[in-house]
Amino acid sequence: MVVKVPDEVRNNIESGEVKRQAHILSVRGDTRVLGVLGCPVEHSVSPAMQNTAIQALGLNYVYVPFHVLPEKLGGAVQGLCALEVAGVNITIPHKRAVIPFLDSVSERARLVGSVNTVTNVDGVLTGDTTDGPGFLQSVEAEWGAVDGTRALILGAGGSAKAIAFALVEAGCLVSLSNRTRSKADELAEAICRAFGEGSAAVVENVDGALREALSGCDMLINTTSVGMHPKPDEIPVNPELLRSSLMVCDIVYNPLKTRLLAEAERCGARTLSGIKMLARQGAISLEKWTGCKAPVDIMERAALAALGSSGEVHGNS
Ligand code: ATR
Repeated sequence: MVVKVPDEVRNNIESGEVKRQAHILSVRGDTRVLGVLGCPVEHSVSPAMQNTAIQALGLNYVYVPFHVLPEKLGGAVQGLCALEVAGVNITIPHKRAVIPFLDSVSERARLVGSVNTVTNVDGVLTGDTTDGPGFLQSVEAEWGAVDGTRALILGAGGSAKAIAFALVEAGCLVSLSNRTRSKADELAEAICRAFGEGSAAVVENVDGALREALSGCDMLINTTSVGMHPKPDEIPVNPELLRSSLMVCDIVYNPLKTRLLAEAERCGARTLSGIKMLARQGAISLEKWTGCKAPVDIMERAALAALGSSGEVHGNS
């Protein structure tokens, strides 16, 4: 029998596309499976980022996206054991909801109330969160130790919580400001319960209070979605409040240079893009699953390339 090779496949072979896909083509019977559970999951850059790292390290793993509806989460998690999936990332909207389905969670994940990494060791599922450590490592890689740094966090949602706990644990003095004041109060109370009275303060989300707070701060961190695609012209703080001595971080990575980062650069401040945190949290997950040192720079470049080809992105996986 003669098999006709479609023109598209012939072109791919000639252009080297098959070489680029060599990792996927090398999946064998003993290849271990990793993945990400989310809804939606189709815009996740984690498969590109993790498979590029797996290929660079020459590991016998493959990382795949799993679209999991909220009402199917329990079944999906049980399925991880049945299928002997080695580990998964958890993204929107399952980061909190997954906790009751796991055998145990780390102290950090329990405090933050969020899991983004599940490890399966002999059928025992353990949850952890690498969001806070990922942010902390990306800041430290850029600017050194944060001990004693005074940080103002904009937002009081899940990302703010993960980042605030990591910063306070590392010796930062943290203030929180949020559109909905009560949520900032709740988060500050949770931090003070965990780390002691005075560990976190709340700043009213109005220019006067923010100006005063920022004059005594070294670092400003945006954890809100303000400025994210498709509204890149928005900014979470009045740009007139920015100063050249500030370190300004944005967890938004789409666009890469948010308006906040552009305004901060304009006034001479140092800036850090959310893509760094994205790569670091993924790198820490990969290290947990495989025990290998993850190639953070390669992962960041792969995430950038995937972002460039996908356009819209949701969540931080
Ligand atoms: P995540 O898990 O990414 O942190 P989240 O838990 O939904 O997401 O939290 C989103 C944060 O962005 C909240 O602090 C939210 O403020 P509210 O508590 O007032 O809702 C903040 N946020 C979202 N849209 C905002 C906007 N347009 N202006 C100001 N803050 C906004």
